[in-house]
Amino acid sequence: MISRRTFLRSAGGVTVLALRPLGRGLFAAPVVDGPSLPLFTALPYIQPGSESVLSAGLESMVVAWQTHAGPAGFSVDFGSSARYGRSVVCSHAERTAGRGGDGEARINWTATIEGLQLGQKYYYRVRGNGTTLAEGYFTTRQPRGRRIRFVSFGDNSYGDISDRAIAFQTYRQNPDFVMNCGDNVYESGTDDEYQRYFFPVYNADVAALRVGAPLLRSVPFYTVIANHDVQDKDARGHEIADFTRNPDALGYYTAMHLPLNGPEAPAYPTPTMGAAERVAAFRSCAGSRFPRMANYSFDYGDVHFLCVDSNRYGDPNDATLQGWIAADLSRTDAIWKLVVFHHPPFNVGNEHYVVQHMRVLAPLLEAHGVDIVLSGHEHNYQRARPIRFMPAGPGKSADIGAPDRRVPGTFTIDRTFDGMSNTRADGVLYIVTGAGGKHLYDPGFTDRPERWTHADDNHVDYVVKMVTDRHSLSVFEVDGGRLTMKQIDEAGREIDRMTVTKSPRLIRNTTA
Ligand SMILES: [Fe+2]
Repeated sequence: MISRRTFLRSAGGVTVLALRPLGRGLFAAPVVDGPSLPLFTALPYIQPGSESVLSAGLESMVVAWQTHAGPAGFSVDFGSSARYGRSVVCSHAERTAGRGGDGEARINWTATIEGLQLGQKYYYRVRGNGTTLAEGYFTTRQPRGRRIRFVSFGDNSYGDISDRAIAFQTYRQNPDFVMNCGDNVYESGTDDEYQRYFFPVYNADVAALRVGAPLLRSVPFYTVIANHDVQDKDARGHEIADFTRNPDALGYYTAMHLPLNGPEAPAYPTPTMGAAERVAAFRSCAGSRFPRMANYSFDYGDVHFLCVDSNRYGDPNDATLQGWIAADLSRTDAIWKLVVFHHPPFNVGNEHYVVQHMRVLAPLLEAHGVDIVLSGHEHNYQRARPIRFMPAGPGKSADIGAPDRRVPGTFTIDRTFDGMSNTRADGVLYIVTGAGGKHLYDPGFTDRPERWTHADDNHVDYVVKMVTDRHSLSVFEVDGGRLTMKQIDEAGREIDRMTVTKSPRLIRNTTA
């Protein structure tokens, strides 16, 4: 009889798990001597942790998992081989039960592995009451000068078959990490939704088109906070996390462990309301991650990533935010600068065209040599030509909470760049990759360029490719001064491609 270990390995699993699925996103530990362990609501997964800059010997990784409340003796071992050899202390934080789901309170467990080298493979195992429950491995961030591959998509985790197909295609690309563009889980970003829609798909035991893939246990997910991560409304109809309605709201701040180098006191933190004791319990679980983790940056290989909270409760004209962005982008010596936020400044879809507040950042991003902006929110794929944009003024960008935040202005488009024979872009490449699983917007727009302009933008043809009739993901390969992006659909077919290169004089000597 084939063992579970052999089956998982033969089926493409990268972690051996002794945890038995019970359905509804719950898992049981094997029965051994001593007190039984609480049910798992999230299998062990890894997260990037709080490091931002690349420093040999200072790299870290967080191993996290979630259980129902109850006594448990967990331990985590790690090492540069499957013999492990070193142990790390486990921490835990209580999480209030949600209104939906099983009504059980949770414990969020973490083990932060520190003092690691860059670009190295490490093995880890999670034990409960001494019994090995899960084994896996991860690779730390690559240093400068190393080739990297990452996958990006947004607007995923609805419990749909398309989520699973995108997870499977992501796994097939063998990425170093995933850069999610927000709307991590629908409908309201609660723990219950993470348990049902997120973890079972991106941390499935096997890789299969209709199942998902074992990504999270081995591949770090970076992400940004978006509207469906903060889905409740206040009396004015503005986005807010209502802890009376959803006691397990804002799973972004409690399930994720991302760099903590954004503004310490953002002018527009994620707003909360509702029962004070529940808000306090959330803050206790999130710790220093709330509200700081809404904005952060990090380096990976030759790329600097800047992740910004673009939710409509904020104002991108804010001096604190712009000052932090300018300082962050000035400081990096990375060859490539990629900016990630959920709400696309430039998109021609019907659904969210008027949500343009992030356009006011365009001159700042251009001034600091940003190469690419990745967004979601529009549930399709849109690739723009290199854009330089000068807002005519703030427009409606400061109208916090308003559904219409149009920002008119003047476009300068680089029409000579084609991503094939001319790969030098003069301007910022804005990419919408929001076809990560949720139902698609404007499915009739594919192959119809006459639909890809808008009267309010004087029909400027800034979008050069738009695929709206299928789900898809973006695969980036960065090798020194050469960046290639392929758009892959849920069946694994390539539907778009572009290459961007840098002038050799702009590339510092990475081999020094
Ligand atoms: Fe969205």
